[in-house]
Amino acid sequence: MGLNLLDISEFRNLASVKLYPIAKGFNFICGQNGSGKTSLLEAIYYLSLGRSFRSFQIDRVIRYSANKLSIFGHVSIDPAQLVSHIPLGLERHRDGKIKFRINGEEANSITELASLLPVQLIDSNCHHLLDSGPVFRRKYLDFGLFYQTKDFLQAWRHYERALKQRNAALRSHVSRKEIDIWTNELIHSAQLLDQLRCGYVDLLIPLLINALTELLPLTDLKITYLKGWENSKSFGEILHKTVERDYQLGYTQFGPHKADLRILINDIPAKDILSRGQQKLFVCAMILARGTLLQSHANKTPIYLVDDLPSELDVVSRSSLIRLLSKQKAQVFVTATENNVLDGFSINIPTKMFHVEHGHVNEMNASETEYKE
Ligand SMILES: Nc1ncnc2c1ncn2[C@@H]1O[C@H](COP(=O)(O)OP(=O)(O)O)[C@@H](O)[C@H]1O
Ligand SMILES: [Mg+2]
Repeated sequence: MGLNLLDISEFRNLASVKLYPIAKGFNFICGQNGSGKTSLLEAIYYLSLGRSFRSFQIDRVIRYSANKLSIFGHVSIDPAQLVSHIPLGLERHRDGKIKFRINGEEANSITELASLLPVQLIDSNCHHLLDSGPVFRRKYLDFGLFYQTKDFLQAWRHYERALKQRNAALRSHVSRKEIDIWTNELIHSAQLLDQLRCGYVDLLIPLLINALTELLPLTDLKITYLKGWENSKSFGEILHKTVERDYQLGYTQFGPHKADLRILINDIPAKDILSRGQQKLFVCAMILARGTLLQSHANKTPIYLVDDLPSELDVVSRSSLIRLLSKQKAQVFVTATENNVLDGFSINIPTKMFHVEHGHVNEMNASETEYKE
């Protein structure tokens, strides 16, 4: 599963770009600062998720002079199937209007595109997964669960709705009896969500440990899934005990909306021990583990977007990351300012090189990879 055609219009400084990447292999993107490398990865991410990883404001990604952006791609599928690829398209207007197309037909929501085109990003902000709040780790788990089981999205939506309603009821100081109705609803949906997350983490942790042995061997590592309330108690018990305080605060203090992954090394939070480069390697291992699980349990091979590969990684770490990425047998996009970043590494899967300059992208043939500024 990967893109074998990508056609981008009016996305940041990419006015009109068409390229034919390798669907299973390394696509190496080089170019000077500000040439459009990250924008290229951002466009792929946008096609999958309908949003950017750099800015929340919709019009930031549309090219200054344009009214709308469009991204179109062919996702290659199993060659044994009758059709070899699925066309996907997305159009976003300055006024916020968004349209998606799959196989020439209008799609209802971005989740349909996302399910056909899972992307995993490794960029300079990925350390947040380790050193920022629990919401990053919850999103990390939930992304994997979205692909793993159809029940997840429904369970998550059900829980979010029940939580909103209970919080609104708490804020309007309704009777205890009425709160109990929402509490029961919340308990029911929380149990399902928690069960799914628990099962997912059980599968994920061994894969994460595996990836770490290659990227960042650690001793005395402890990873624990925290449900969002005291792990040893039932959620009902907790809600019962904390309802008075919930009334005062006007919101539900505990529940799956507070879940987290606790990562300790020698009983100290990993973020307080690891260097920035080591944190990046740890996060890469987390992302690769989730990708491996996606492949084995959801039969989806994600596209890896690795922005600015050399940043914060020494040569040995880069080489381990590249080795691990090539083992995924997936489509990988890697950017760097220098075109010799992959030199000396043995990559045993097909590779294509692209050069980006002022928003134009050119494929380089093997001899051109010697390209010098
Ligand atoms: N909406 C936009 N329209 C046109 N150009 C933009 C827009 N947003 C950013 N840019 C420009 O796009 C260029 C490419 O940025 P980027 O992809 O981050 O470069 P790189 O990753 O190669 O360093 C930058 O020079 C930036 O100023
Ligand atoms: Mg960049």
